[in-house]
Amino acid sequence: MLKMNLEKNLNKILIIDYGSQFTQLIARRIRELGVYSKIISHNKIKLSDIKNNKVGGLILSGGPLNVYQSSKIKFDKRILDLEIPILGICFGHQILSKNLGGKVKKSKFREFGLANLKKKNKSLLTRDFFNNNKCNVWMSHSDEVSKLPKGFSVIGSTKNSKFAMIENFKKKLFGIQFHPEVTHTKNGKKILKNFVFSICKLKRNWSSKFQKSKLIDQVKKQVKNSKVICALSGGVDSSVVAKLLKEAVGKNLVCIFVNTGLLRKNEEKQVINTFKKKFKINLIYVNAQKLFLSKLKNVSDPEKKRKIIGNLFIKIFEKKAKKIQKIKFLAQGTLYPDLIESKSVTGSQTSKIKSHHNVGGLPKKMKLQLVEPLKHLFKDEVRKLGIELKLGKEIVLRHPFPGPGLAIRMPGFITEKKIKILQEADYIYVEELKKHNLYNKIWQAYAALLPVKTVGVMGDNRTYEYICLLRAITSEDGMTADFYNFNKEFIQRVSNKIINNIRGINRVVYDVTSKPPSTIELE
Ligand code: XMP
Repeated sequence: MLKMNLEKNLNKILIIDYGSQFTQLIARRIRELGVYSKIISHNKIKLSDIKNNKVGGLILSGGPLNVYQSSKIKFDKRILDLEIPILGICFGHQILSKNLGGKVKKSKFREFGLANLKKKNKSLLTRDFFNNNKCNVWMSHSDEVSKLPKGFSVIGSTKNSKFAMIENFKKKLFGIQFHPEVTHTKNGKKILKNFVFSICKLKRNWSSKFQKSKLIDQVKKQVKNSKVICALSGGVDSSVVAKLLKEAVGKNLVCIFVNTGLLRKNEEKQVINTFKKKFKINLIYVNAQKLFLSKLKNVSDPEKKRKIIGNLFIKIFEKKAKKIQKIKFLAQGTLYPDLIESKSVTGSQTSKIKSHHNVGGLPKKMKLQLVEPLKHLFKDEVRKLGIELKLGKEIVLRHPFPGPGLAIRMPGFITEKKIKILQEADYIYVEELKKHNLYNKIWQAYAALLPVKTVGVMGDNRTYEYICLLRAITSEDGMTADFYNFNKEFIQRVSNKIINNIRGINRVVYDVTSKPPSTIELE
């Protein structure tokens, strides 16, 4: 078992956060390199945090501020004398340059999006980075470094940013105007890799195993001997939270699993078998199928459906939770992208596309404190953590499933008969994907039932039945997506199997729209 001071004893990269939307992405990239990293806000950092903490390198993040808004920005110049390598990114590059005697001014031409960086000088930071002395990099800035600090030389420039990449190699200080942490910067990871291993000389010391121990320790510290309640849906995130909590607080964890009747085929059996029987988690099972169906009767408006399901879910959850004594905490599977999506990047109001329902935003009235152990992680990291927690690939690699379930994959009225038809069609489709090793190549796939009947002919007889729509998309994070390109044999096979096995469907169509303009779900 790892000790509580695990983090303190690890060599690490310390990221000083100036409020960039990408700070967590930098941390994630460092984790991907197998090295521990920690984020501290520029407002909170103390020199002792750096001195006595095995910090092998400092990264200064980007941020929305201007370097001359000095009252809002904390920059302790003494970090420059610690002889620890520093990499400034975007705003971090500007604040570093300014504090070393350089100048920063409003750019004549702002740079947003891709820019072509040209190599000016050789550097250890750019090993394997340039291709034919250039590289596409991703920019997002309207200020720029206009005068180099003393002792610095230029590594690379873009058309509008002469000092886009600079260094004082002797002092191991580096500044880059672009974002190496985003995937749009081709080879961006190479820069972070060179910084971490060749310049800071750190060794690999981080893995999902460490991640697991660290999170368990954190939860233990937060919750102590109190009881925690968790809404389990059977999806990846809530499953990982439940298993993590079980390891951290054991019997003090109570999970509530609500069967809305809108789950996938066999889903409730699977959840009960896994969590109650196999993992011996204290699980309260609520069969509310009839209630949900009756409240959704004659409702076809997508937003109404979502609201009814969300509210009912909360009511049931509250009712059950009230019966349990001395609950102080509510555990949720909030991920980092959920947090970014809930904030507008530009600070302006974003328009509402759909009101998502999930266990997030649960009972405010209950005044429970939140436990959100996954809130700094990305989906693929949560999956790795799930494997580490021995959750089983069946759960961990499962495609995302929306809180309102099949209700939003069935435009129009919801009936028991339609749910049954859809469950069967979805099951056949997903099983075929698994059989043909396609499931894990696809980010999300599902069958939907369209509220349209069309004419068909089967065994010389006329049929008049529903249309089944198949959707399969590739995506990084669900924010944008492209449809998956199946070959004809596969899609034909699924179509045949659905029509031959399910009464109620006589036509199968495949959705060939990306997101945007469509969304992933139909409603
Ligand atoms: P859309 O349809 O908005 O979906 O492109 C993006 C991702 O979010 C999932 N989704 C939901 N997840 N509650 C959830 O927990 C919801 O209400 C909800 N609506 C959509 C969807 O399955 C996809 O992965």
